[in-house]
Amino acid sequence: MEREELLIFDDIEKQAWELLEKSIIYYQGRPIGTIAAGETSEVALNYDHCFVRDFVPSALLFLSKGRYDIVRNFLEETLKLQPTENLLNAYTPGRGLIPASFKVVSTNGQEYLEADFGEHAIARVTPVDSCLWWIIILYAYVKATKDINFALQPEFQQGIMLIMELCLATRFDMYPTLLVPDGACMIQRRLGIYGYPLEIQALFYAALRAARKLLICAGDEEIVIGIDNRLPLLRDHIRNHYWIDMHRLNAIYRFKGEEYGHTAVNQFNIYADSIAYAKLALWLPKLGGYLAGNVGPSQLDTRFFSLGNLMAILTSLASDRQSQAIMYLIEEQWQDLVAEMPMKICFPAIEKEEYRIFTGCDPKNLPWSYHNGGSWPVLLWLLTAAAQKTGRTSLAQRAIEIAQTRLSEDQWPQYYDGTRGLLIGKEARRYQTWTITGFLLAKELMRNPDYLELISFAEFDLNNASQVCDL
Ligand code: GLC
Repeated sequence: MEREELLIFDDIEKQAWELLEKSIIYYQGRPIGTIAAGETSEVALNYDHCFVRDFVPSALLFLSKGRYDIVRNFLEETLKLQPTENLLNAYTPGRGLIPASFKVVSTNGQEYLEADFGEHAIARVTPVDSCLWWIIILYAYVKATKDINFALQPEFQQGIMLIMELCLATRFDMYPTLLVPDGACMIQRRLGIYGYPLEIQALFYAALRAARKLLICAGDEEIVIGIDNRLPLLRDHIRNHYWIDMHRLNAIYRFKGEEYGHTAVNQFNIYADSIAYAKLALWLPKLGGYLAGNVGPSQLDTRFFSLGNLMAILTSLASDRQSQAIMYLIEEQWQDLVAEMPMKICFPAIEKEEYRIFTGCDPKNLPWSYHNGGSWPVLLWLLTAAAQKTGRTSLAQRAIEIAQTRLSEDQWPQYYDGTRGLLIGKEARRYQTWTITGFLLAKELMRNPDYLELISFAEFDLNNASQVCDL
């Protein structure tokens, strides 16, 4: 790279750090989070809130810079917003949930925090991912500070337990995966991802791994047994039933339907005609593969969802071989998955009748826009981390170079549109904080790969699952 270019990129990073500083929210004089977007020219809607999922890259960056206070304050304050009682009103958030977002409100000079559990979100979507991300942030905080005592405080132990109880509760279904409504994660609008979406399963796996380390209780307690039982079942279920590569596609293509009982090969009764197998066979490189978006009764969503796949690599939910195959697929199908802005939230977009049925004719989620095949720069840090974990850092470098030529000039938009990510998202906010932090964190990870430890897990080993001591 030319010296002049390097200087420009240094300036871009400097600007990004300044913007991050400006995005910090203060509560009673203490920094407690970052706002979703800094653009003020439009109605704020809820973009002046601090979203739990949006705060993740901010938190990791602050931890990498030794700015522990803001992450600690965030964890303490969000924990206070977690309901600890089950109210007998179905319209109130359940025990253990962590809100999607919060903001500081002041009345008569008195500041307090207003939490949103989906009441302010469009379509009242449930933020299932928040409580999972919350445990993941707590784990990263403890790893970075080595202050296990922070997580051992009774209120934190209770917070983790309540989340675990919520996730491990007996339900109607008999899968190790979590059953959730549509729009329960980063994709916050209807997009045909109800059921068992990969993103939630990968975060669930990460949260179980983290909780197992953070809970102080002895190994014979019910909750720990519950976690230990669930982890291998969830892992094997995902590795077997979500995996798609040429070998698996061949098996699915020749599946027999209507099988009963334990000997059924096609356990979920998937009909090959329900998937675009001809296109998929052309798209899948010989050595590549990925985890499907969703698996349920007669349902196999073959869309590629980036967050779920990348997080599956980081948490070792995917096997080593599968992780390599996912990165290989990203490399081989670069124009579809990364193209001009890293990276697509999902691929391909749903179009025509499918678009109408799955989104409910949502004008924001038109094909190749927003959640429906748009490109989200925040995913850059996850791509970088996954590339590091699999030893494919050159892919991360390539993606970062693409992003840094555009992001600052385009004023850090929330998302991009089009099959190649060439258009700034139709309704994208500018100065979106997780666009800024996603870029900075990717850079930081490249400079110091040790930070990967804050967010990644080795293969789960039941005999060595132990707790706090080896954090
Ligand atoms: C959008 C995204 C959601 C994000 C929110 C705030 O609604 O879908 O994931 O948390 O914006 O940035």
